Amino acid sequence: MQLSPAPRGDFPILSRTVRGESPLVYLDSGATSQRPQRVLDAVRAMDVEHNGAVKRGAHQLAEEATIAYGEARERVASFVGVDPGEIVWTSGTTQSINLVAYAISNASAGRGPERFRIGPGDVVVVTRAEHHSNIVPWQELCLRTGATLKWLDLTDDGRIDLNTLDVIDAHTKIVAFTHVSNVSGAISPVAEIVAAARAVGALTVLDACQSVPHMPVNFRDLDVDFAAFSGHKMLGPTGVGALYGRRDLLDALPPYQFGGSMIELVTMEETTYADPPARFEAGTQPVAQIVGMGEAASYLADIGMDKIAAHEARLTAMMVEGVQKIPGVRLLGPADTAERTGAVAFHVEGVHPHDVGQYLDSLGVAVRVGHHCAQPIHRHFGVFASTRASLGPYNTVEEVGVFLSALAGVRPYFRLED
Ligand code: ALA
Repeated sequence: MQLSPAPRGDFPILSRTVRGESPLVYLDSGATSQRPQRVLDAVRAMDVEHNGAVKRGAHQLAEEATIAYGEARERVASFVGVDPGEIVWTSGTTQSINLVAYAISNASAGRGPERFRIGPGDVVVVTRAEHHSNIVPWQELCLRTGATLKWLDLTDDGRIDLNTLDVIDAHTKIVAFTHVSNVSGAISPVAEIVAAARAVGALTVLDACQSVPHMPVNFRDLDVDFAAFSGHKMLGPTGVGALYGRRDLLDALPPYQFGGSMIELVTMEETTYADPPARFEAGTQPVAQIVGMGEAASYLADIGMDKIAAHEARLTAMMVEGVQKIPGVRLLGPADTAERTGAVAFHVEGVHPHDVGQYLDSLGVAVRVGHHCAQPIHRHFGVFASTRASLGPYNTVEEVGVFLSALAGVRPYFRLED
């Protein structure tokens, strides 16, 4: 029986076959997740029935679009335990993090309050576990401002090493770190890192794109200052995501993109800016996709994130144990299943990850291969690339079984049996 907390029948794509007659076993939700009919319908309804300019028109369509847009913000905010006014729409996690980094450099150039200014002698701290979206924007911020980038290091199995926490010191102004590694699957010790950052007055920025779809997440409880997440990894559409910012911080943060919708008064000489979140939402937003993200948040909330986390924990344990039993396969990430999610990366001795991916694909199993936009953690594990299976709330015990049998066939197929 195919049991999963998100009913399989809700996801039209999951019933298709691939590479001929193989049923699709989709284990690439860490890269992008599949969408339930409810989300597909919500997006389509916006395009087919309610398309109008949000907050601009005086007509019924504009009113309907504006209401749906506002409700989406309420749904997403409630899903992560914050106020609607603390959710800024972005194109996804990458833009959310760039928004904070650029707003801080605008402040540092004299266009914002002292609390956001950084410069020579100041330090931005990240971790070696980050994907590139949470490294490169900070490297660039340091280049623009003269600040220095430092990082927390990792244990052999890819967890953030709390013995390196002393990198956070009186010079640290920002600590940006992932909630869950997209390679090792390790859940970060958020409380310890936030406490260290708070002790020196540094801002915290949480990359939550790999946690929000898989476990209950409440940014207020986590006590972070900013957090970024994406619609398409949480059963929503592509091209939309969100930045959470604590209200007092958003109130003081200068804008980073300029144009329509983010202003209060414009004369030919000068401009004053709208209150957040509008101040950070210049231009026309992807309204249908935002409504789809709101629907995805409600869909997940209706199932219950506790239920999803418990199911994925069971499947994660199967994958972590199963992968390690296969000769010639090395797990890249914690072998213990506590504080770990179902992003399971591994190295197959003697077989290039692309060949592993192609072999699995020939049997209907979709995984990600390459460096997963996270080269530093791969170097930490002593490899350039890996294969990664990653779970969604629609995966089943049977699918994990299919994946493990297929993986067991890789080395024999390439005549590398031990
Ligand atoms: N977030 C992307 C992934 O893990 C980089 O696939």
